Amino acid sequence: MNEKLLLEKAKEARELSYSPYSHFAVGAALLSRDGTIYKGANIENASYPLCMCGERNAIYNAYMHGVKKEDILALAIVADTDNVCSPCGACRQVICELCNDETKIILGNLKGDIKVVTPKDLLPFSFSSEDLK
Ligand code: THU
Repeated sequence: MNEKLLLEKAKEARELSYSPYSHFAVGAALLSRDGTIYKGANIENASYPLCMCGERNAIYNAYMHGVKKEDILALAIVADTDNVCSPCGACRQVICELCNDETKIILGNLKGDIKVVTPKDLLPFSFSSEDLK
């Protein structure tokens, strides 16, 4: 599956966003090794800190179907941004732990801009399980 196709799936997920407070809809689509795609969108709440980002929902959706970090080939993220949609800090931390070093993180927007990065590009020198030993 190419980058554009996975971003199309992320756009489909974005349609399911529940974002009545920010009016900022984010969609994500995760591609696993067996070809299955797991979607996520941001889901907000009147109690603002409970809002959950689209990319984390996609990752958690995949894990709830038994996907392991080594199975995650790519994660596409899309929003209606001027530049490609860049994950928040919390999502970067989760991406680094739950994806793998080779996972392609495909950042996009509705205009068709695309940038492909790795988890480590997003969060160099990160805190990880290694630090807990
Ligand atoms: N949001 C995401 O879904 N992903 C990000 O990486 C950035 C922010 C959501 C959270 C909230 O629902 C809305 O975008 C505005 O911050």
